[in-house]
Amino acid sequence: MKSAALEHLVCLNCLSDLQLDSKQTFDNDHPNEIYEGILRCTSCSREYKIVRGVPRFVDENESSPTDIRTGASFAEAWKRFPMMDERYRKQFFDWVFPVDANFLKGKVVLECGCGKGRHAKLLQEAGVKAIYAVDIGEAIDIAYQNVGFQPGVHLVQADIERLPFRRDFDFAFSVGVLHHMESPLSGFQSMSSKVKPTGSIVAWVYGRENNWWLIAIVNPIRELITSKMPSSLLLSLSAVIALPLVLYCKLVARPWMNFRKRHNWVPPLYYGEYLSYIAQFGFTELHHIVFDHLIAPVAYYVPRAYFASWFKEAGWTDSVIRWHNRNSWSGFSSADLQELEYMRKRVKEAADSSLGAVTARSEDRSGLDLEP
Ligand SMILES: C[S@@+](CC[C@H](N)C(=O)[O-])C[C@H]1O[C@@H](n2cnc3c(N)ncnc32)[C@H](O)[C@@H]1O
Ligand SMILES: [Zn+2]
Repeated sequence: MKSAALEHLVCLNCLSDLQLDSKQTFDNDHPNEIYEGILRCTSCSREYKIVRGVPRFVDENESSPTDIRTGASFAEAWKRFPMMDERYRKQFFDWVFPVDANFLKGKVVLECGCGKGRHAKLLQEAGVKAIYAVDIGEAIDIAYQNVGFQPGVHLVQADIERLPFRRDFDFAFSVGVLHHMESPLSGFQSMSSKVKPTGSIVAWVYGRENNWWLIAIVNPIRELITSKMPSSLLLSLSAVIALPLVLYCKLVARPWMNFRKRHNWVPPLYYGEYLSYIAQFGFTELHHIVFDHLIAPVAYYVPRAYFASWFKEAGWTDSVIRWHNRNSWSGFSSADLQELEYMRKRVKEAADSSLGAVTARSEDRSGLDLEP
């Protein structure tokens, strides 16, 4: 932990400033990082430990047991797949579009549910002033190893429902997390409550639309069987599923979708957008994707209209919702209505231009349902 993090951290109990206890040890490899120590509230008696370089704000008795379990399950996934990959950059900016590196420059950013820290690294490279990335589980330790010591990166173990921050972030985002929470809406509201009155937000969640097979088949299997399996067994099972999946993505889905772009008569391939998208990755990443899907104790598939309502519930005037790969929703909002309209235009232009190469069939257009 860098002492500069104290600028934004507060006590969970009374929202007062925290101060560092005089006794601290530093990371041998990164002397600016406080490795072990204690943060004390300046008003009440509460204190928070700094352990292995990260301040810890999760109290298992105060968070939802489901969310704690979810954090522990994902920590297993990140421990087994801690690798960083250059392709995460494109994937990230696809998820959060219309946000881009230019938009992020100089901002103080909050990431809710950071996993192994792959996005914190990208944000730091994009020139943010600071990125505060939180995760509820031991994923935060993997994140620390990957990015904790980078300048401007602050990692915090915390529950999205109980964020130890002031309301002073320029931008907050969450990718692939809220749908795994016991209460996705209150997670979104909590995240929104830390954005300053002039700020903006992005969330990406699984969509209900087009995901009938995940909801009807995979969800019950995950809930009843795979999320309860020993993780080493699940790792093997995921490998068995990932192998034909890689072959199908690379040998069928990607060529099919590329061919379809040029030949109007080719019929759509179910889930083709997503499968050809993930075909860019190799076996290890697809193994991780399968493992990740099967280990999560909870996953909600969020209907578009309900997702749009989160923004209103959390006090945002309006939002720009985009269908990503025809299986998930990405939503942007900003307190600055001019910025919001500018982003709406960008999303629409990008959608129109991506269709330029294709004949605008009705099923393609349905994914571009931009108005909330
Ligand atoms: C599917 S992973 C996505 C991680 C990261 N956003 C990424 O895309 O690499 C979901 C992450 O959210 C974290 N998470 C789930 N519920 C949380 C909560 N209530 N508070 C903080 N983190 C949470 C999990 O521990 C897990 O690391
Ligand atoms: Zn306090």
